[in-house]
Amino acid sequence: MDRRNFVSQGITAVAGLSLGAMAAENEPESKIIILGVSCSPRKGKTTATSVKIALEAAQAVSPRIETQLIDLADMKLSGWKGGAKPDAPQIPFDDYEVNVEPYFMSPNLGGLIIGSPVYFRTMSAVCKAFLERLYTVRTPVMRLADKPVGALAVGSFRNGGQELVIEQILSAMLCYEPFIVGGKPSAHQGATLWNNYNDDITKDEFGVDTAKKLGIRIAEAALKNAGR
Ligand SMILES: Cc1cc2nc3c(=O)[nH]c(=O)nc-3n(C[C@H](O)[C@H](O)[C@H](O)COP(=O)(O)O)c2cc1C
Repeated sequence: MDRRNFVSQGITAVAGLSLGAMAAENEPESKIIILGVSCSPRKGKTTATSVKIALEAAQAVSPRIETQLIDLADMKLSGWKGGAKPDAPQIPFDDYEVNVEPYFMSPNLGGLIIGSPVYFRTMSAVCKAFLERLYTVRTPVMRLADKPVGALAVGSFRNGGQELVIEQILSAMLCYEPFIVGGKPSAHQGATLWNNYNDDITKDEFGVDTAKKLGIRIAEAALKNAGR
């Protein structure tokens, strides 16, 4: 079975999701789907919560916006496994083909928020692996072209490298021909969160505000793109 066939089977295999509907050709044109990817190895912790906050703010902008959180924590996901071309076989297949890539195939994909914890002032290894594997959505169609993409970072220090991580993520994403966005003022670069409250990120009022501002900005840009 080649990679594309594997992926299309993966689309139907993902359990209980509206994913089949998402990818279906007859999906109503009016829906705009914003994806949020949490690139922490800890499921549902501060990064995932922050991405969720951003997605909720995006959803509140318009009834046309639908959101989907992709938490990479429990997934088996390696970095790029060789071959210079995006359709090079990636063997063995892992969760990327089944649980991640299908979301990017929706014709109604409207935008993307990528969140990473700060690990030694750089993005997490999970985030780097995700960015490498995303290579597959560049061909035959550049799936993220002209779509708003923004980033958030969570660190346990107030100036722990959050802005650096956002810059690293967005720098990589420039290879996808997106519209890179920050948040609404004053979250100019994106969302920067401080895990200073024993993993309860909702207590970081300033950070939560930046996450909301990122979600709103992504939603507004996606709506504009779709000819609001
Ligand atoms: C290996 C490692 C390196 C880290 N390096 C930094 C750092 O450089 N700056 C920082 O602010 N926090 C750093 N942290 C803290 C995490 O960014 C922080 O706990 C974050 O909230 C974790 O996200 P999670 O709750 O989604 O797992 C580090 C944590 C780990 C495990």
